[in-house]
Amino acid sequence: MAGKLDGRVALVTGAAQGIGKAIATRLAADGARVIISDINEAGGAAAAQAIGGTAIAADVSDPAAVAALFKRIETETGGVDILVNNASIVPFIAWDDVDLDHWNKIIAVNLTSAFLVTRAATDQMRAANKGGRVISISSNTFFAGTPNMAAYVAAKGGVIGLTRALATELGTYGITVNAVTPGLIESDGVKASPHNQAFEFVEMLQAVKGKGQPEHVADVVAFLASDDARWITGQTLNVDAGMVRH
Ligand SMILES: NC(=O)c1ccc[n+]([C@@H]2O[C@H](COP(=O)([O-])OP(=O)(O)OC[C@H]3O[C@@H](n4cnc5c(N)ncnc54)[C@H](O)[C@@H]3O)[C@@H](O)[C@H]2O)c1
Repeated sequence: MAGKLDGRVALVTGAAQGIGKAIATRLAADGARVIISDINEAGGAAAAQAIGGTAIAADVSDPAAVAALFKRIETETGGVDILVNNASIVPFIAWDDVDLDHWNKIIAVNLTSAFLVTRAATDQMRAANKGGRVISISSNTFFAGTPNMAAYVAAKGGVIGLTRALATELGTYGITVNAVTPGLIESDGVKASPHNQAFEFVEMLQAVKGKGQPEHVADVVAFLASDDARWITGQTLNVDAGMVRH
């Protein structure tokens, strides 16, 4: 059966585990040729092997690594059609412990990375002249003002701003640019962090009850990546079972 993403090349950053891995799995199931890029080389390779994709390790906050990543994508696939900016550090840190080193690290990995990767991807998309999709994973913490992650919340708000501005500049090239804001999701990263204790509280605030799973986000990303979403750009789709309304 024909897949909705047959013939497309999709890059998912930070896809060795968690939400990124679920997105990569879903895009591959929809027919895309998926490239997983993660700073965790072994994890990225295993995730790519499981879905018949390609792993290219890179630290997406490092300009040289991002340049090398896109050079390989160009050589091996001819260029990316779908970009999913997902790589992130999800911290749990009280405001009193937020110093400049922490701030700079979180902004670099969670916001500057989106600039670097989107810069390279949209250059490649425009050179190929066949449109494209940019989908960035932000967070509903931007709407909720969630504590213990101030730099992260600021970076995720920046991702939404970048999304809105680029949608305007890139629409004329047939490139749509959207963001997704998950609520609390039971990812590998969350399971290994203090955020794992927050599910009961968050469920109380959700309209639909249950624990958010990586697949809940992956399904929405697959929609935004597909032709069905061709008339949607500059938007932020909130995927949190109705916890916050914006
Ligand atoms: N899990 C949640 O509750 C939740 C909620 C809202 C938004 N999000 C967002 O969803 C996305 C995925 O989150 P997750 O919970 O699956 O995280 P996770 O910690 O399980 O996975 C993050 C992945 O990013 C990779 N990564 C980290 N730094 C990198 C770098 N510099 N270069 C390349 N790869 C790097 C890690 O190696 C890891 O594989 C993130 O953007 C996160 O901010 C998560």
